[in-house]
Amino acid sequence: MSDGANRGRSIRTGTALVFLPRLNRARDGSNSVRDAVSAPEEATRLAEAIGLVVMHSEAVVVARPRPATLFGDGRVGDIGRLAHQFSAEVCVVDGKLSPIQQRNLERAWNCKVIDRTGLILEIFGARARTREGRLQVDLAALEYQRSRLVRSWTHLERQRGGFGFMGGPGETQIEADRRQIAERIARLKRDLGRLTRTRGLHRSSRKKAPYPIVALVGYTNVGKSTVFNRLTDAGVVAEDMLFATLDPTMRGITLPSGRRVILSDTVGFISDLPTALVAAFRATLEEVVEADLIVHVRDASHPESTRQKADVLAVLEELGVAADATDRTLEALNKIDLLDPDKRAAMTTRPATGPRQIPVSARTGEGIDELLLEMDRSLSGGRRTLDLRISLGDGATLAWLYRHGNVISREDVDGLAHVKVGLDVPDVARLEHRLKSGETPTVR
Ligand code: GTP
Repeated sequence: MSDGANRGRSIRTGTALVFLPRLNRARDGSNSVRDAVSAPEEATRLAEAIGLVVMHSEAVVVARPRPATLFGDGRVGDIGRLAHQFSAEVCVVDGKLSPIQQRNLERAWNCKVIDRTGLILEIFGARARTREGRLQVDLAALEYQRSRLVRSWTHLERQRGGFGFMGGPGETQIEADRRQIAERIARLKRDLGRLTRTRGLHRSSRKKAPYPIVALVGYTNVGKSTVFNRLTDAGVVAEDMLFATLDPTMRGITLPSGRRVILSDTVGFISDLPTALVAAFRATLEEVVEADLIVHVRDASHPESTRQKADVLAVLEELGVAADATDRTLEALNKIDLLDPDKRAAMTTRPATGPRQIPVSARTGEGIDELLLEMDRSLSGGRRTLDLRISLGDGATLAWLYRHGNVISREDVDGLAHVKVGLDVPDVARLEHRLKSGETPTVR
């Protein structure tokens, strides 16, 4: 694997089988309904997102996880026959596999085996657009790959696109690869450090811009990009694929009050995101951490909408964001066009607890105006309208007002500008301070 191999990679279409190991409930405490019904479907979509053609998917009960193969001998044999029958090139195990288990299963099934972390890394790798996003994915992938370099790995071809989790280094190359990986990790960390410093500079200059940041967050495939498009006409391509938006996409939009905001579309969250990846993507999610308003887009038509919401909130919490804070969050309940009328009628915009909810359909455009209004309302909490008279000679204060406020009207009479302006409460205080300090010849 070289730097070059990771750039613009395309993962070859191949046939795949997807298995969800369902561990004994008492052991992993997981939700059996979700494991049995929804998650194999999610893993299938994840696999399809990297171009695999899924021939068969199935939840597999694992009563007693085997250290060597995870699954019991009987199941290993059954799956091997299925893999043969479908001529599967890849078996996806939607769970955690140790390097030894992965190697043994590859031997037993005579095909490539990837686990959930490997699969997500492949997706992130295929979707990363910015330089920083790519570096972060490469770094996470290398750290992961380093742990996969075990002795006696079956020799499999290496350059198949992707990160090579679908392949793997031959035994003879392990030592050389180890050294090479360590060097590349060091280099990537250096590059990332440099890039993060530059980004910090950019961010602080943007922070000075008087535009609040509105971040769209949500579970993958809930329709964030489609909502984003509706809100911006930005032309971001909405794809029925997971992770169509890995790196934050930002656009300036104007709300009904005339307030300009920066709208930021973010990577979709998924359940069980490997911790190593959360760390790797912390920087791309910094927009959310710093956002003035978070619009949590949810798929109201999804049977597990509530569970998805909990997943998103858990990840955000790891990032130090209290996403259920009512003053900073709105929920856009998307895809209402798919709901039956009874369900729609039952939707309430003001739940007893938690943030305000706005039913929308990004597909039909329904509710989008209300969402814009609500964004405006949330951001203008505590906004005041002032009538000011400013000396025309005080260009600095006039410029300050245009930068920080929403100038509603202005009339220049006898050397004074009569200005009606909307200002956020903290900015009113800043203006008062500015005027009191007498640094300008302003008349109020
Ligand atoms: P990730 O990039 O994976 O995080 O996905 P996303 O949340 O950005 O979702 P995206 O906008 O790509 O939409 C996912 C799928 O849902 C696409 O097929 C959209 O056409 C569809 N979709 C989005 N909004 C609506 C809606 O209001 N109604 C219906 N019926 N489908 C929608």
